[in-house]
Amino acid sequence: MKLNKNFANLQESYLFSKIAKKVNSFTAENPNKKIIRLGIGDVTLPLVPVVIAAMQEAVAEMGDAKTFKGYGPEQGYSFLKENIQKYYKSRNINIVEREIFVSDGTKSDLGNILDLFDKENIALIPDPVYPVYVDTNRMAGRKIIFANATQENTFLPLPDRKVKADIIYLCSPNNPTGATYSKEQLKEWVEYALANHAIILYDAAYECFIQGKEIPRSIYEIEGAKECAIELCSFSKIAGFTGTRCAYIIVPEALIFDGMSCNKMWLRRQSTKSNGVSYIVQKGAAAVFTAAGEKQVQQNIAYYMENAKILANCMDALDIWYTGGQHSPYIWLKCPKFKDSWKFFDYLLEKANIVGTPGDGFGKNGKGYFRLTAFGDRENILEAVARLKKLVHNI
Ligand code: MLT
Repeated sequence: MKLNKNFANLQESYLFSKIAKKVNSFTAENPNKKIIRLGIGDVTLPLVPVVIAAMQEAVAEMGDAKTFKGYGPEQGYSFLKENIQKYYKSRNINIVEREIFVSDGTKSDLGNILDLFDKENIALIPDPVYPVYVDTNRMAGRKIIFANATQENTFLPLPDRKVKADIIYLCSPNNPTGATYSKEQLKEWVEYALANHAIILYDAAYECFIQGKEIPRSIYEIEGAKECAIELCSFSKIAGFTGTRCAYIIVPEALIFDGMSCNKMWLRRQSTKSNGVSYIVQKGAAAVFTAAGEKQVQQNIAYYMENAKILANCMDALDIWYTGGQHSPYIWLKCPKFKDSWKFFDYLLEKANIVGTPGDGFGKNGKGYFRLTAFGDRENILEAVARLKKLVHNI
């Protein structure tokens, strides 16, 4: 028996586990300090009433022999997929039901989708980046090339025609930087992918935070994307499902490489390795797309975006460079005075009892940067701003 030695190439622990460990040891030593958590992008508002009502109804159905459900379709119930289809249609994007696959989370989909691709492919991943893209490829022993995202390119790298890559990761609005690609910029990526026989894995988990129509919320707003892109999206941020778990992935039927259909491969993979998502959760997710559901989730999104504005205003007042916050719940800031973002993390935790995420945790270009999330509750955000103002003046 031989173990997968690629695990030796990973950091000792997953970024957010490392942060949780640091915070837990700080709270154990300082039990009376009020910690404000703006680290992991985890929602704080409860599920909206229509989602709760739909799930309660589904629970009742499961308790009645006449309506009880056993195994569901591995790729998701039609009632949810039809609603997802309509969600895209409302943005003039035509997706057929067979192209939609419901899952328990984008994180799992990101890891699982790699089953479709040969190990010899080269992954092109922005730096800084959501660590899951990097770690899942490292676990598979795949070669990674990084696309540098820096202050100079406003953290939005564009394709370099000299570089040959096969699997391209894009996330817009971006985690961690909150930066958003324009249609013209995404067009460049689609053209690159088509010319290079490459595939784009487009993480749209934060699309719901985009304000206005000029910024694309889906890669399929770009012509040709159906022939080169898979899109991943989640109910975690739009509807607060981080603890409930539900997501979806779009695998277009037009994705044919070497005579093989990615859609058919994914269906085969999912029906073999997954029994799907619970009926109760899918009922809750479907309720998000009702008129009342949309209104209720929009209120929560507006609440988080107001938090983001408060944090952004604080950065302006302190004259700190940042990106994000406008179409994203993340503020990506340049650490005031500190070059090492883990040192800034420790300083902020110790002196202001605020938890953020060090930019270094997202890649080498995150050095000297820091991420704050707007998912906290208003009172905490306001208190964090007051603490930050006091602290930064005294550094
Ligand atoms: C983050 O903080 O980057 C996100 O919460 C991670 C995730 O969505 O898994």
